Amino acid sequence: MAYAPTAPHLDFAAPPSPARLVVLVSGSGTNLQALIDACADPAYGATIVAVGADRDGIAGLERAAKAGIPTYVHRVKDFPERTEWDAALTGTTAAYAPDLVVTAGFMKILGGGFMRRFEGRIINTHPALLPSFPGAHGVRDALAYGVKVTGCTVHLVDDGVDTGPIIAQGVVEVTDADHEDGGDALHERIKSVERTLLVDAVGRLAREGHSVHGRRVLPLTPHQ
Ligand code: GAR
Repeated sequence: MAYAPTAPHLDFAAPPSPARLVVLVSGSGTNLQALIDACADPAYGATIVAVGADRDGIAGLERAAKAGIPTYVHRVKDFPERTEWDAALTGTTAAYAPDLVVTAGFMKILGGGFMRRFEGRIINTHPALLPSFPGAHGVRDALAYGVKVTGCTVHLVDDGVDTGPIIAQGVVEVTDADHEDGGDALHERIKSVERTLLVDAVGRLAREGHSVHGRRVLPLTPHQ
């Protein structure tokens, strides 16, 4: 069942410090690594309590293990129905009692059960300037369209694909040379902006809480 926000205005108070983060990954995990590094500073105000994945054998899981962070894997193909995968992912994630869930290169659409359980507290990072070029090929699609600038978007997850309220965006220029290698170098430049953007956004929400007003994510201030 699809998730839809339960109210046009939702407040999320700052959790006790350090905020508990669960990070979901599917690949190399350089965004995860940036979060691991940031969390080493107590002033950052967050700690990664677990890293989940939808596949084995990825560098993201190795990065977590090296940092001593518990990991878990739920593969869609191991479940007869997608809803059962969603229930397993929801249950294991919930067992770590996260204040915020970060999808950092997690290449699966989250299910309705997961969305309801962590409503308004799931942060995704996407390698394009949303609402342009959502989906699994944000870099390639932007390049194919011929844009001169692209970038990255950190946003809250809702029931659509990369459609949730935007928290932060970063801009990266596209050069003629980017068309030669299919976007690999462009994606690397985007990721170097993206890591800083994600670390800043997650830290801010962890330390200060946040408020969702329709499509806007605002700092949580008293008496709103
Ligand atoms: C990031 O660029 C992230 O935005 C992208 O995967 C990369 C993961 O890099 N996610 C998507 O495309 C989701 N639609 P990383 O594994 O090195 O952090």
